[in-house]
Amino acid sequence: MFSTIYQSTSFSSLVWPSFTLAVATWLVTNYFTKGLNKYPGPVLASLTDWWRFHTVWRRKAHYSYLKLHNELGDIVRLGPNCLSFAHPQAIKSIYGLTKKLGKSDFYPVQMQISKGQVLQSLFGTQDQDYHAKLRKAVSNAFSMSSIVQYEARVNETTKVFLDRTEELYASTGLTCNFILWLQFFAFDVITQITYSKRVGFLDKQEDVDGIIAWLDKIFQYMAPIGQIPLLDKLLVKNPILILLNKYGFIDNSSGTARFSKARMVERLQELADRKAAGKDEIYQHGDLLTMFLHSQKQDKTGFFDDSRILTMTTSIALAGSDTTAISLSAVFYHLLRNPECFQKMLKELQDAIDSGLIPDSEILSWSDSQKLPYLDACIKETLRIHPAISLNLERLTPPEGIEICGELIPGGTVVSCNPWVLHRRKEIFGEDADIYRPERWLLGESSPPEARAQLSEMKATMLHFGGGSRTCLGKHIALLEMYKLIPSFLKKFEVRTLPCTRPHAISVFS
Ligand code: HEM
Repeated sequence: MFSTIYQSTSFSSLVWPSFTLAVATWLVTNYFTKGLNKYPGPVLASLTDWWRFHTVWRRKAHYSYLKLHNELGDIVRLGPNCLSFAHPQAIKSIYGLTKKLGKSDFYPVQMQISKGQVLQSLFGTQDQDYHAKLRKAVSNAFSMSSIVQYEARVNETTKVFLDRTEELYASTGLTCNFILWLQFFAFDVITQITYSKRVGFLDKQEDVDGIIAWLDKIFQYMAPIGQIPLLDKLLVKNPILILLNKYGFIDNSSGTARFSKARMVERLQELADRKAAGKDEIYQHGDLLTMFLHSQKQDKTGFFDDSRILTMTTSIALAGSDTTAISLSAVFYHLLRNPECFQKMLKELQDAIDSGLIPDSEILSWSDSQKLPYLDACIKETLRIHPAISLNLERLTPPEGIEICGELIPGGTVVSCNPWVLHRRKEIFGEDADIYRPERWLLGESSPPEARAQLSEMKATMLHFGGGSRTCLGKHIALLEMYKLIPSFLKKFEVRTLPCTRPHAISVFS
């Protein structure tokens, strides 16, 4: 008995000092990594990535990063191996097309597993050649000329949105959880554009198959875990769980994946039936899936196979729903918070109809929406002051290092900019960059050349859709949805926030 106590005491007397020494060595090594200790930042951030994990987990990372840049300058160390840049010059160096900096380990955390394989999505992949091939295969479907054909799909969902709003809220006087309602719209419209079929959130007025709850859950997981990607390899993408997934013991496929799979099976069956009937194989649905199948037909290498199309369509629903819903909500939020801007926008719309500049149609066409400069300014200002992606867009420097803002940054360093930080640069957007003022985007005929130069600098500093070769593929689609829905909705309904503790609730009146 005595001897056991004696042995365990001596064991712990060895273990604890060794453990403490190992941790101290690890922290000191982290602190001095690549000489990044010369850059300012929170001390805890320079020692371990747990500081960033905690900051992101608290969901207000963008405010913390803004504050840090305001206090410490253009380069801030956010982790032992992570630097955040606030100077607009950094955009070209980090995201410039010629630089080709790869994505950091944050991104594979965003990828899903199916049949024991991590699905290489366009958004998440770190393999630059694979990315270039996949982007080439799908880019035609996202070009401005192709977007026009999706307008009919957007019209269908917008009509459902307006009709259901009338039926459920305006005519009943019930209040509406508008953020959720817009999420329903964004999900239904992106699936309608992709497969010519809505999931049916608006029709059923519910979170079908728990898709939105699932999305919330995975984003809550991915954002903080992405700060320490090793955790994902331990918690989700470890060999045992991947094997269990392969043999069907774990099914982590989402409602979105199931919906996508079902649509793909339907479409392939339709194609087979058409082929058997001797008809043109690709039926023109005027949706993204049709465009992808066209592209597959032209691809002689077999690269763009059915499984890659499926990965693409599933990830579009994920990448294009929440981001659009956040941006739409933010537009309404800022209009409601700024009644004089709201009135100006409504007046512009009414004047345009009264003067015959645009027809008095229920749903505005894309081309008519482009005749409303104040609407355009309100949307641009919202995307500036409330970009949907609030985390830093991380890239990895090449082995030889790279110069950013006059500093030689060593190879293998995670470098990034944050849209929230860049969009509030006073020398670019003006001294009042912290407030919502759509007028900053408007030029008059007599505006001096300096104002025009400032406007182009403002446009070049906007990072809400990312930048370079990894810029948002769906930006034209997102804008199409926004520029149509907002004026069509406001033409028909009056909205008012409820003065209470339910910030998402609004009243809608016809
Ligand atoms: C207002 C709405 C949207 C915002 C603010 C937004 C924002 C972004 C941003 C910032 C990135 C780059 C991320 C990075 O570099 O780390 C991105 C990439 C991407 N977005 Fe969007 N997005 C929106 C809507 C959409 C829509 C509607 C779609 C699909 C139709 C879409 C599909 C994608 C894809 C596929 C990528 C990855 C592109 C690549 O790596 O090549 N997004 N988005």
